[in-house]
Amino acid sequence: MKLDEIGNWTEVKLEIIREYATAYSKILSAQMRPKLHHFYIDAFSGSGLHISKISGKFVAGSTSNALDITPPFQGFFFIDIDKDKAQMLRKATEGRENVHIYEADCNTALLTEVFPKVQYEDYCRALCLLDPYGLHLDWEVIAKAGSMRSIEIFLNFPVMDMNRNVLWKNPENVPADQISRMNTLWGDESWRDVAYDTRESLFGYPVKADNDTIALAFQKRLKEVAGFQHVPIPIPMRNSKEATIYYLFFASPKPVAADIVSQIFDKYRKPGDQ
Ligand SMILES: C[S@@+](CC[C@H](N)C(=O)[O-])C[C@H]1O[C@@H](n2cnc3c(N)ncnc32)[C@H](O)[C@@H]1O
Repeated sequence: MKLDEIGNWTEVKLEIIREYATAYSKILSAQMRPKLHHFYIDAFSGSGLHISKISGKFVAGSTSNALDITPPFQGFFFIDIDKDKAQMLRKATEGRENVHIYEADCNTALLTEVFPKVQYEDYCRALCLLDPYGLHLDWEVIAKAGSMRSIEIFLNFPVMDMNRNVLWKNPENVPADQISRMNTLWGDESWRDVAYDTRESLFGYPVKADNDTIALAFQKRLKEVAGFQHVPIPIPMRNSKEATIYYLFFASPKPVAADIVSQIFDKYRKPGDQ
C-alpha cells in the first residue's frame, strides 16, 4: 500500500497529540472515585504509518502513537473510510481485543456506533481525534461530542481547503457543492457573516476576513453552540512556505485539560502567532 507522505507540520501535530494523550491517560487511570473507563477514538485514523517528506523515514501515525501510550487506554476505536488503510490497521492490531476498527464514514460511525459506547453516566470518557484531509467533517459530530460531557476533541480545521474552494474573493462564483461542504462543517451558513464584510473592497467584492478571524469565530462556536466549556486558542499549522494549512483545535468540558493543552500549544507556537 502507498503510505501518506507527511510534512513537518504533521509531525508537530502528532507530537502535540501524543503529549496530551499521555497526560490524559495518566490522569484518567489514576482517578479512583469514581473509577473511570477511558478510551481513545481516532475518526479519520489513517493507516498508522507514514513517510516523512523531509527525511524519507517511516513515522508512526496517530493510531500507533496512541497504542503505545502508558498507562494504556482501556479501548481504542479507529475509523477510516479507505479499505487498504483499515486493513493495515487490522493487521497491526491483530490479537488486541480492545481495538475496534471500522471501515466506514466516521460521520456516521461516530454517531451510531462509537459515541453511544462512551456515556458520561457509565463513567466512560474519551479523547477523540478528528483529523480529516479537508472539509470532510460534519458539525453534527462536533455538536454531539460537545453535548455528551464525556468527550474531549482535537480537531483539524482545514482553512487551506476553505480558502481554495469556498472563501473566494467573489463569493458569487463559488459552486454550490463547495458551499454545502462548508455548511456541513460549520453547521449552518453563518460563516458567511464572519468571512465577508458587507463593505465592498476597491474591486467591488466584499472584504474577506483573514484566517485568524475565521478560526476565532469557530472557537466561539465550539463554546457557544457545541457547548464545550473550554477551548484554547487554536494553533496554526504551517507548511514550509509559512502558509497555514489548518488550525489544530482542542475542546473539552474540563478546565485542567485546556490548561495542559494550552501549555503544549505554546511550546510549538511560532513567534507572531496568537
Ligand atoms: C489526515 S489523514 C489522518 C492522519 C492520522 N490522523 C495521523 O495523524 O496519523 C485523514 C484520513 O481520513 C480518511 N478519511 C477521509 N474521509 C473519511 C471519512 N469520511 N471517514 C473516515 N475516514 C476518512 C482518509 O482515508 C485518511 O486516511
